[in-house]
Order: sequence, then structure tokens, then C-alpha cells
Amino acid sequence: MSIIDQLATIEATALAALAIISDAEALADWKSSVLGKQGSIAKLSRELGTLPASDRPAAGQRFNAVRTALDSAFAEREAIISASALQSAFANEAVDVTMPGRQPVVGRLHPSTRVLRMITDIFAEMGFQVWESPEVETDTLNFGLLNIPADHPARDMWDTFYIDTPPGAEKVLLRTHTSPGQIHAMRAHAPNPVRVILPGKCYRYEQVTTRHEMMFHQVEGLAVGKHITFSDLKGTLIGFAERLYGAGTKTRFRPSYFPFTEPSVELDVECFLCKGSGCRVCKHSGWLEVSGAGMVHPDVLRNGGYDPAVYSGFAFGMGPERITMLRHGIDDIRWFFSGDERFLQQFV
Ligand code: DAH
Repeated sequence: MSIIDQLATIEATALAALAIISDAEALADWKSSVLGKQGSIAKLSRELGTLPASDRPAAGQRFNAVRTALDSAFAEREAIISASALQSAFANEAVDVTMPGRQPVVGRLHPSTRVLRMITDIFAEMGFQVWESPEVETDTLNFGLLNIPADHPARDMWDTFYIDTPPGAEKVLLRTHTSPGQIHAMRAHAPNPVRVILPGKCYRYEQVTTRHEMMFHQVEGLAVGKHITFSDLKGTLIGFAERLYGAGTKTRFRPSYFPFTEPSVELDVECFLCKGSGCRVCKHSGWLEVSGAGMVHPDVLRNGGYDPAVYSGFAFGMGPERITMLRHGIDDIRWFFSGDERFLQQFV
């Protein structure tokens, strides 16, 4: 077969092969095997030298013509393949911009933390600093210095978790109330005036029931200075109740007993649900107990480093879980620390 015929066969075969190529990889293979330096055209062109000199120009032109034809066929095919690759990328990688986004899961604060913060905010506006004191205390700080000696019947008010200590060593316990914080705060400030609230966890060795947990929070308040009177205590707590339950909320102070205050009172707030007419939440009394309070006992002032002849003070202690239960009609304190999300998710 003459070179020119061979060239025609190569062209025809190459064009037929090209027509059915549909991917870039096969296209590249085609190009190097046909048009490449080692491709079929280049190989055949090396045989041009065997032709008689007079035939060479025409054969050369023919080679150029075939090369040009194959080049443009290649370019055409390449355009078709890359267009269809783009189309399929559009189809496969399509993004539905109308699809709703994924909701990030946002944590929220525990109901006790929220109420604790409400309480601390209210007292902060009245000039009370927030102070923290230890959850592990000595018997002396939790009881003795608060005027509750070892054999005092008032100890029955607090069932206590004691921590193992060597025989003869000072007894150590989980604080049963935030009141030992009063001693810490007074000792850190005496003889200067002090006005603090002490929020934190307390522990009681208690049968867990709908109304009693072995761990709960308290917020303790303490103000010590010269000329502090019972009126200051009343004004502070009435102001607090009005901020928490709304202006004009009725309050009443009932006589009570705590070893570390004298006189001692209990603050009641008119039931916000029935407005005093009596309902299930207030057990038909019309009133809700909110806080224990009183004038700091002279012995306690002395233990804190103040001379009771010169200084006086008031203190109070309240339970934020109880306040939350009343606000939201929660009838079982065990929900708070059960970790049940169904309960927690209700507090948005
Ligand atoms: N510590 C008391 C308790 O746990 C609450 C209390 C009552 C605190 C009267 C006070 C107070 O500061 O003055 O029951």
C-alpha cells in the first residue's frame, strides 16, 4: 500500500475512533497515539524520505492536510466532552439553595442557674457584692461559730454529711447551708462594713422526697455596719420581693427562730397565683414562704470580728429551687438534678 493510501486508512480509522470517545482520558490517549511524536502520523511521515523527490511535495501537503483535519476533529471532540463534563458536574454537584439550614444545637442555662442569676442581679442593684465560700466546711464554721453548739437541739434542723477524718481531728462536713459564708465574709471585711450575697450549693443527709433533695442551692445575704436596723432588713427584702414578683406585691414578716439571728423572722410573699385568696400552690394560706432572715446575733458578729456594741447587721437565706418551683408550678424538687432533658428543655 502506498504511503498516501496508508495515510488515508490512518485518517479514516482515527476519525472513526474519535467519534465514539466520550471521556477526557480516552481523548488524551487518542491524541498521543495519533498526533503525538510517537503517533501513527509521525511514524508514517518518517517514510516520506523513501519517496521519489518529485512526489514528496504533494505527499507532504497531504500529510499537512490530514494533520489539520485531525487537529480540528480533535478540538471539536474536546469541546463536546468538556461541555458534557461541565453539565454532569452541574447536575451532580447541584446545591439546593432553598433547603433550610441545619439548626445548631444551642445549650441553655439550668433553671436553678437562671433564678440564681435573677436573684443576684436584683441584689447587685441594691449594692450587694457576690461572694463565694467553700462547700466543704469545718463543723465549727458550719455550726459552732453560728451559735449552734454541738449539743444544741437546733442541730436537728440540719442533717449533715460528715467527711471521714482521723480520730481527734476537727470534724469536716459538706455545708448544710450557706450561712458559714457569713463568717468568711465578715472576717475578710471587719471592721469595715460589708454587704454581700453568697450563692451556692448545700448538702443535707436527707431522705429524698418531692420536697427534699440532698443537694440544693441557697442564697445567703449579709449586711454589717454601724446603725443597721431591722427596718433596713425589711426594706431590702420587700424591695427584693417587689422586683421578683412585681411592684405592689404584698409581704409579711412572721416571727421565727434561727440560732444565728436575734430576732429571727420568716418572709412570706402573697401567693402570686391566687393573689391571697388561697390555692393549691400556697396550700390555701394565700402566702408563700420565701426567706429566713433576722438581725445577726451578737455572738456571730463577734465571731466575725465585729464589736456588737458598735456594729449591727442583718442576714437572710433563701432557696432558689423553691422559688423556681413556685414560679413554674413544679411539684417535685427531684426534677432539678435528675438530668432529664424533657424537664430542662421546657426552660427556653
Ligand atoms: N441557714 C438557714 C437554713 O439553712 C437559712 C437562714 C435563715 C439564713 C435565717 C439566714 C438567716 O441568714 O438569717 O435554713
